[in-house]
Amino acid sequence: MSFRIQPQPVARPNRCQLFGPGSRPAIFEKMAASDADVINIDLEDSVAPDDKAQARKNVIEAIGDVDWGKKTLSVRINGLDTPYWYRDVVDLLEQASDRLDQIMIPKVGNAGDLYAVDALVTAIEAATGRTKRLAFEVIIESAAGIAHVEEIAAGSPRLQAMSLGAADFAASMGMSTTGIGGTQENYYMHRDGAKYWSDPWHWAQANIVAACRTHGILPVDGPFGDFSDDDGFRAQALRSATLGMVGKWAIHPKQVALANEVFTPTDAAVQEAREILAAMEAAKAKGEGATVYKGRLVDIASIKQAEGIVKQSEMIAGG
Ligand code: COA
Ligand code: MG
Repeated sequence: MSFRIQPQPVARPNRCQLFGPGSRPAIFEKMAASDADVINIDLEDSVAPDDKAQARKNVIEAIGDVDWGKKTLSVRINGLDTPYWYRDVVDLLEQASDRLDQIMIPKVGNAGDLYAVDALVTAIEAATGRTKRLAFEVIIESAAGIAHVEEIAAGSPRLQAMSLGAADFAASMGMSTTGIGGTQENYYMHRDGAKYWSDPWHWAQANIVAACRTHGILPVDGPFGDFSDDDGFRAQALRSATLGMVGKWAIHPKQVALANEVFTPTDAAVQEAREILAAMEAAKAKGEGATVYKGRLVDIASIKQAEGIVKQSEMIAGG
């Protein structure tokens, strides 16, 4: 490890973030009753321009009125290139109850975007006497966002989570995609008459995970658009989990259980992690730094992975 120790992200479950438009208050209670760890009520792209003001009012009311249980409650504000975002922040901070945990800033392009929102939020918190410090989450969904991903991850002490937004990302990058996330028909290797599909999101995800892990931020996979394709969602989520992401968005309630399934360590995985920790304890007692578990090498690095799995399962059980 470098002299600078890798910081731990905030200790809260973030397996699934369920989205719903702020202009559709009829679903707020259903969102609150879901099994998602995080609720994202949207003021941005799922709300039409003419509905922005009413959506803001709906959201402010619902933050105080709906019982959100232990969920992390987040509102996605409009992008900094729009005329809406400052009013989103001002009204939320001046009028919403302090049940609001977090705001999501979309389409961030550099650390200055976070600095600007932080300055506004900090001033309103001081002026209104809000004592609960608002957290931030961001979406990387542009060429600038991925090019500046590390400075963004370090951009504000309020930042807790970072998601990859596949649809806007593809548009900004000029990608030729047909679906939001997942396998893309034309992204394949060819050999001996057969196609082998590859993963066009892999590099962006790996960059996000590296930036997030460096700065103690939760890396999250964003939307999977085809909510009738459970197998496609599962495959995408499993790849994200393999690369180190901690959760995935649901843009329809049926995706919540799929995300929770993938991002909850199985009983077998937790059991194995505990056995690896016990094997390493026994090795340490004998003065050894590595040992053999089920025919394979385990060493100090295995301890960190095993501890991560045990910690994750304990956090979910306690949540
Ligand atoms: N959260 C909670 N419940 C939801 C929901 C959501 N996001 N979307 C739909 N439901 C409810 C419906 O009200 C319906 O409830 P009912 O059985 O009590 O009548 C049930 O789930 C089934 O809904 P369904 O008819 O399949 O979907 P729909 O046509 O009502 O809505 C979407 C589909 C995609 C428009 C809707 O899910 C949605 O708005 N998703 C989020 C979009 C968003 O926020 N995008 C921004 C981030 S990319
Ligand atoms: Mg977007």
